[in-house]
Amino acid sequence: MSHTILVTGATGTVGSELVLALANRGVTVRAGVHSIIKGDRFSHITSGVQLVEMDFHKPESLHVALTGVGRVFMITPVTEDQVAISKQFIDIAKQAGVRQIVRLSVIGAEAEPGTQFGRWHREVEKYLEQSGLAYCILRPGGFMQNFVEQYGPSIRREGKFYLPLGEAKVAYIDVRDIAAVAATILTADIKQHQGKAYTLTGPAAVSGQEIAQAISKACGRAVEYVDVPEAAARQAMAQQLPAWLTDALLELHAISRAGYAADTTSTMQELTGHAPHTIEQFAHDNQHCFHPAS
Ligand SMILES: NC(=O)c1ccc[n+]([C@@H]2O[C@H](COP(=O)([O-])OP(=O)(O)OC[C@H]3O[C@@H](n4cnc5c(N)ncnc54)[C@H](OP(=O)(O)O)[C@@H]3O)[C@@H](O)[C@H]2O)c1
Repeated sequence: MSHTILVTGATGTVGSELVLALANRGVTVRAGVHSIIKGDRFSHITSGVQLVEMDFHKPESLHVALTGVGRVFMITPVTEDQVAISKQFIDIAKQAGVRQIVRLSVIGAEAEPGTQFGRWHREVEKYLEQSGLAYCILRPGGFMQNFVEQYGPSIRREGKFYLPLGEAKVAYIDVRDIAAVAATILTADIKQHQGKAYTLTGPAAVSGQEIAQAISKACGRAVEYVDVPEAAARQAMAQQLPAWLTDALLELHAISRAGYAADTTSTMQELTGHAPHTIEQFAHDNQHCFHPAS
């Protein structure tokens, strides 16, 4: 029985934190990387981490990545065919003899009609539920790290971030907390979390203005939140993103603006025994990401 845990999307926002969290627990972790060059980020971890190149669009690479794997943390990229590549991955994992898949989904995936992001994720959740594999589902809210990965460039360039959220508050979660929950589940007895779905949020809902204050205080430079009309947000996003993604993201923003993303859960604390990171801790720990030169 293999104890190796495969993390897909291992160089991404959640995956890279989870690889570290599992390695710190002394578990044999296989980092599934899209490109072996990017796997360099794990070179400082001297033991316990195997690197494997895998591409969701190349099934033969998935067979290789899943060989000898007992459990999987399944992160799929946000692509137009995310449902199809996810179902194919589950099929191949089953053929390879994987025992458990822990799936990264999204908050509200169970809601009907819900959002487009939720519906994509729910379709994969249902497929996993019916696969016969042991499974557990994590449904996190919006990531605090979006303020580095997505809104970081304008913060560094102009000291501003632009979102169509009005005064709304959102219970953003630090991805380090998602990784902590995932590591806890993946190192527990498989039966303990079998068939469970956990909704994960940060400790408090925060407004754009409160986030700007936290980042300003952490990096010692004034950072401003600019509330933009949806039409302006659409115009800006359409220059960088495909239409299907622009539509899906604007739908999430509209739900948040209406106040539906403010609820918090205590699940992270209950599962790990640790309090989730606050927005102030996130801003402090990532202050280097908000400076103009970074
Ligand atoms: N952002 C949020 O606020 C939020 C909230 C809730 C749920 N989610 C969910 O979180 C998931 C994304 O997680 P994340 O933000 O950690 O991901 P991410 O940072 O976008 O990283 C995606 C990872 O997938 C890899 N990848 C891309 N294409 C691939 C392919 N064809 N084959 C194999 N690997 C590939 C990327 O590698 P390369 O970079 O080398 O291509 C990267 O390691 C999505 O399902 C999303 O719906 C996001």
